[in-house]
Amino acid sequence: MPFRPSLALVTGASSGLGELIARRFAQRGADLVLVARREDRLRALADELAAPGRQVHVLARDIAVPGAGPALAAAVGELVGDRLVDTVVNNAGFGLYGPLLAQHPGRLEQMLSLNVTALTSITRTFLEPMVAAGRGTLVNVASTGGFQPAPGLAAYVASKAYVLHLTEALWQETRRSGVRVTALCPGPTETAFFDAAGSEHGPLGGNVTTPEQVVGALLRTLDGRTVPPYLVPDLPNRVQSVAARLLPRRLTLEVAARVMKQR
Ligand SMILES: NC(=O)c1ccc[n+]([C@@H]2O[C@H](COP(=O)([O-])OP(=O)(O)OC[C@H]3O[C@@H](n4cnc5c(N)ncnc54)[C@H](OP(=O)(O)O)[C@@H]3O)[C@@H](O)[C@H]2O)c1
Repeated sequence: MPFRPSLALVTGASSGLGELIARRFAQRGADLVLVARREDRLRALADELAAPGRQVHVLARDIAVPGAGPALAAAVGELVGDRLVDTVVNNAGFGLYGPLLAQHPGRLEQMLSLNVTALTSITRTFLEPMVAAGRGTLVNVASTGGFQPAPGLAAYVASKAYVLHLTEALWQETRRSGVRVTALCPGPTETAFFDAAGSEHGPLGGNVTTPEQVVGALLRTLDGRTVPPYLVPDLPNRVQSVAARLLPRRLTLEVAARVMKQR
């Protein structure tokens, strides 16, 4: 049965994976709440996706702030009243390339505040009414990086390990609630991510995929009645993530350091 969100909130909808997810949800008839900082990009997307009978709302804001979840819920409530947000995609996130000691402490905190704290706050806030209603879908965007440590992307992949573990545990906690929870774990994907992360090398550390491949795999998974705790969109990266969980940690570190050009 095709997945048809009724009202979906997508963070990081101004580019890359979030933008494409919003487009695909709109094609399936969803009303949308688009969240990111760049209002011009969100408004252009909203204008493009708006159609008779479809509401596309824009919430232009920095969500890397304390209390992100309750603040978003209040703003969404002003837009749609007490209607249930039945689909949430926690997609906003960024990485920081290079050794930890080369990174600006403030940027590091911003990254953790977005990738970890805001995601947790939004999850906590929006999951509660879904569980009360006995329906809904939550997608947290992690990464294949979340399966292993990666010198040169240390704090980023640690933040994605947090997202992965949080979401897997939530999958179990909510599995009889009627709500579906899954972690999307893309490998390196052709988006603005690498520019934002300051990579001199472009995509590193796995099989490079397109946003269409990643979002296509997500939709096929969501079309199922149940969802797995996590989803790695393509086979080579799936093999790599299984290997990362099975191989000795020292060996994984050695391979990751070579791939990340950190030795
Ligand atoms: N591309 C990859 O290789 C890859 C691989 C694995 C996982 N991922 C994950 O996929 C997700 C999407 O990334 P992407 O590849 O699509 O990169 P992207 O094109 O750079 O998109 C990142 C999105 O996050 C938003 N964002 C950043 N900081 C924000 C903030 N403080 N508040 C609100 N929104 C913010 C950005 O919008 P504004 O700048 O307008 O705020 C943008 O829409 C991220 O969680 C990333 O970690 C990406």
